[in-house]
Amino acid sequence: MKISVIGTGYVGLVTGVSLAEIGHEVICVDTNVEKIEMLKKYKSPIYEPGIEKLIKSNFEAGRLYFELNSELNYDDCEIIYLAVGTPQAEDGTADLTYINQVIDDIRNRCRQDKIIVTKSTVPVGTNLQIKESLNKNNDVYFDVVSNPEFLREGSAVKDVFNPERIVLGSDSKEAIQKIVEVNHKFNAPAIQTNFESTEIIKYASNAFLATKISYANMISNLCEAAGADIHSVTKGMGLDHRIGDKFLQAGIGYGGSCFPKDTSALTKISDKYHVDSSIVKSAMKINEQQQIKLISYLDEIYTDVKDKKISLLGLAFKPETDDIRDAAAIKIIKKLLERQAKVHVFDPEAMNNIKQVFGEKIVYEETATSTLQGSEAALVITEWDAIKNIELAEFKSEMKRPLILDGRGIFLDAEEDSEIEYRTIGRKGAI
Ligand code: UGA
Repeated sequence: MKISVIGTGYVGLVTGVSLAEIGHEVICVDTNVEKIEMLKKYKSPIYEPGIEKLIKSNFEAGRLYFELNSELNYDDCEIIYLAVGTPQAEDGTADLTYINQVIDDIRNRCRQDKIIVTKSTVPVGTNLQIKESLNKNNDVYFDVVSNPEFLREGSAVKDVFNPERIVLGSDSKEAIQKIVEVNHKFNAPAIQTNFESTEIIKYASNAFLATKISYANMISNLCEAAGADIHSVTKGMGLDHRIGDKFLQAGIGYGGSCFPKDTSALTKISDKYHVDSSIVKSAMKINEQQQIKLISYLDEIYTDVKDKKISLLGLAFKPETDDIRDAAAIKIIKKLLERQAKVHVFDPEAMNNIKQVFGEKIVYEETATSTLQGSEAALVITEWDAIKNIELAEFKSEMKRPLILDGRGIFLDAEEDSEIEYRTIGRKGAI
């Protein structure tokens, strides 16, 4: 089938490439000239393991094209996927500016009937509005299918080929059937329902996972106060299959482009319908505190960090991505700069992105070792392999004061080392 995918962010690019890989002819479209030029040279605008190999092979097989929005002939395709961003607006709701622009464009430029598939995360009622807006006073007829995405950054390629479910919502059985056919090679159970249910499934899933993380973090604070160990506690909980061990990892909270924005949007949608969403609101509040937890440890240890070299190991909101949106690192660096510390940072992929936020205010190191040299505290932010593999001996030989504040619980052996001062989330301070 011939498909166009509008938007080449995480969702659009991975969706487009995966549809090409299973045999469809796909045009990935964006308004950003630079991005399209990069993609034509098989370069991905985002760091995502495995994506460039698939871009190249599908491009060479003649199944994948990249075009600027202005060049696209919409009528070349039977199906149009919407995968543009729905960032958080200032009031916490989802900003639908990009969606509305694309809808106007489709209305103005399509001369043949089509199916529109919404991949972007949109508030309840949006797919119905899209359908009404496209079909109002129009000779061309549009069906709309809501098909939210559940892939994770950093493992998006693996996730997209191994989905646990395909969620499809529409008021047209024929349109749903067509999209079931498009996806049949993915071999996952398809949930077929209405627009509103699919819209809620997406928000409810992300908010549930975010709440599970905040629950683990709330319990981690209790563990610290009561002298328990969060790792034993979550292991003891997670072996119960009704609870499960996934997303119970306590640490410095969740970041990224999805959980913060979708939890906020879910509470705004609930407010609109006068429904209590206080569980999710509490999860958001706990996360805010958790993201700067390492600063509270640092403040307990040092009365003043002015002019002290403080190292950050990792910046991205999670490993295997260069994404720093809503990352704990940003909030931690801001707090350190307020305290006039000398901030030195290292991340295998996210350095360029963090440079755009902090410019010359902090020092960008090339290796984990140089980040540690002469430092008086190492804050562990992201559990990259390059960081997990640092030997304890290195903290001792390189740092002025071998003090590790571990936001991801990856250097637990340091607790046994009398030459290292170590503090981590959810265990009583060993310092
Ligand atoms: C999330 C969802 O997991 C995807 O299913 C969804 O498709 C995606 O949002 C989206 O809406 O597009 P993502 O944000 O890429 O995916 O990353 P996750 O792996 O879910 O991690 C999110 C954050 O939670 C990270 O900061 C991670 O460090 C943190 N986390 C995760 C924890 O603190 N503890 C855990 O146990 C798990």
